Amino acid sequence: MTDLDAVLGNAGPTGLKERIAAELAAVRERSLAYTDADDDLLVRQHSPLMSPLVWDLAHVGNYEELWVLREVGGIEPLRPEIDHLYDAFRHPRKDRPSLPLLGPAEARKYISGVRGRVLDVLDQVDLTDPDPLRSGGYVFGLVLQHEHQHDETMLATIQLSRRPGLVRDGELPPGRPAAEPEVHIPGGVFTLGTDGGTDTVAWAYDNERPAHRLYLPGYLIDRHPVTNGAYTEFIEDGGYRDPRWWLPQGWEWAERNGVEAPLFWTRDGGAWWRVRFGREEPVPPDEPVQHVSWYEADAYARWAGKRLPTEAEWEKACGGRTYPWGEADPGRLGRWANLGHRAARPAPAGAFPDGASPYGVEQLIGDVWEWTDSWFQPYPGYRCFPYEEYSKVFFGETHRVLRGGSWATHPSAVRTTFRNWDYPIRRQIFAGFRCARSEE
Ligand code: AVJ
Ligand code: FE
Repeated sequence: MTDLDAVLGNAGPTGLKERIAAELAAVRERSLAYTDADDDLLVRQHSPLMSPLVWDLAHVGNYEELWVLREVGGIEPLRPEIDHLYDAFRHPRKDRPSLPLLGPAEARKYISGVRGRVLDVLDQVDLTDPDPLRSGGYVFGLVLQHEHQHDETMLATIQLSRRPGLVRDGELPPGRPAAEPEVHIPGGVFTLGTDGGTDTVAWAYDNERPAHRLYLPGYLIDRHPVTNGAYTEFIEDGGYRDPRWWLPQGWEWAERNGVEAPLFWTRDGGAWWRVRFGREEPVPPDEPVQHVSWYEADAYARWAGKRLPTEAEWEKACGGRTYPWGEADPGRLGRWANLGHRAARPAPAGAFPDGASPYGVEQLIGDVWEWTDSWFQPYPGYRCFPYEEYSKVFFGETHRVLRGGSWATHPSAVRTTFRNWDYPIRRQIFAGFRCARSEE
């Protein structure tokens, strides 16, 4: 990987256009680094859940073309014949390898052609124009976050490929045990969501809006995400064999698929090992558990005498700021959170005391996405913007909300109001959880 940290650490340029240009360069450097591999790896489908990497690569360019060049720039389609290939709703992931996709070299050429014109549009556009795509550079926030989201998806694909040597690892601070493993959050009214969106620190999505007040009774929430060590106790206690802890659909799913540990774990005698980016290593007990489904998280919580937090409880524990530590951009990595692929794993529990929320809850942002008890539903007063296929088509009792971002999430693609979602059976994402319980 090229000098990603230097780019990620760059929250610097003063002007908005300069900042956008720097972030566009950084995200592209990231996408190209993840696809700097042989063509076989890029065109193969490593799991029916995932696209070939070369699909993600051209798709981010096509999305940038649709939104920046056509919608804002008024530029004619560069290659109208390929649009349908990269429309996620036209072809399900499992069918994508059989499509006449652009090959790796062609895809790189296409996205770089788009990018050149995008920089021209950026140069020309008036970012104070009240048009909601232009105002504050929203459309650039949209494509930046989109590309970073696909970069995280690409990392999940690479992890599934079990191919070693493709993903850079890095250093992380050591963990610290928690003197008080739970934090009490008093009952009261707080504000869920945001009215921001054209804010230059955080380009919020439609599903994060509008801000609305909500009463929550008092509760306790874990100070840290649940660790591998704690999760192993659940396994060793027969947690996967005891239907008392499981929802019926979760029990059936685990039985049918022979699930008895997190994805990528294997037992060797008395010890648990995992495969991480193609290499086997002992499961580190202090690290937040990842690659568990919502059903597993929910079962663990019940076994522990707790439950998953609702997304409102999760967000309230952040203390009502853009990031748990305040408003400062997390671009300056190191002090506050494990984000932006500084290492290829979650940091041990307690590694980021400076990133604690005003309540003292730690590692809310970064490390692992955290499953919550909430279905992905629109907030009251939700208005779709700018298109239905980002959030609206996924609302309902089908997807559970995840919060907080993982080690693989870029700082510009997460904040305390950010909502992610997935099916409750999914485990290839970098997801773990923490528990909560109601006040007695
Ligand atoms: C918000 C991560 C669930 O990857 O399906 C990417 C983001 N939307 N392209 C996904 C997204 C369109 C989305 N998630
Ligand atoms: Fe996409």
